[in-house]
Amino acid sequence: MSEILLQIDGKEVRAKEGTTVLEAARSAGISIPTLCHHEKLEPYGACRLCIVEAEVRGWPKIVVSCIYPVENNLVVRTRSEKVVRIRRVILELLLAHAPDSYILHNLAEEYGADKNRFEKEASFCIHCGLCVRYCAEIKKMNAIGFVDRGTRREINFMPEIASKECNNCKECFPLCPTSYLQATFVLAEALAFPSRSSQRR
Ligand code: SF4
Ligand code: FES
Repeated sequence: MSEILLQIDGKEVRAKEGTTVLEAARSAGISIPTLCHHEKLEPYGACRLCIVEAEVRGWPKIVVSCIYPVENNLVVRTRSEKVVRIRRVILELLLAHAPDSYILHNLAEEYGADKNRFEKEASFCIHCGLCVRYCAEIKKMNAIGFVDRGTRREINFMPEIASKECNNCKECFPLCPTSYLQATFVLAEALAFPSRSSQRR
């Protein structure tokens, strides 16, 4: 696999062909915020928070760094004015869905996002897919899935699998950027397995 030479925030960075701009930046100690990325999972590109400005043959464009592959002579800016402006709006939109997420609150402070810019439509899940993908790709269980489409899309525990597997696992809980996953499991457990939840009281 050949080596690629690119520039990120003015720094010369070497990366292996086939890796992403996010991986190259992190290997050089340059931090890019992410919400749906996990190094053990296949790239997903859902939250768009990791966008950066990349200049390809003199043409600047906005790319999603967790899925964009490194290229020779690519010039990347991870915190240009445009990037910061777009990240701010993404955070403002996500906060309308998950107004209590401390991860989003911290990022909003960092990027100067207005936490109340958009009307709250709290559904708490920001559709990062971390829980669903972790369960499928790492645990090979598929105990959680998405149901419905568009704005009605939400996560759902499969009772027949969750009843056997989730109680002793729960490895996906800390991955959720909004803590919604844990709340959903507690609710699903209370509705589907009332005897188990009453034992905990
Ligand atoms: S429940 Fe949490 S981890 Fe799962 S998709 Fe929604 S925000 Fe992501
Ligand atoms: S981290 Fe890249 S799109 Fe979510």
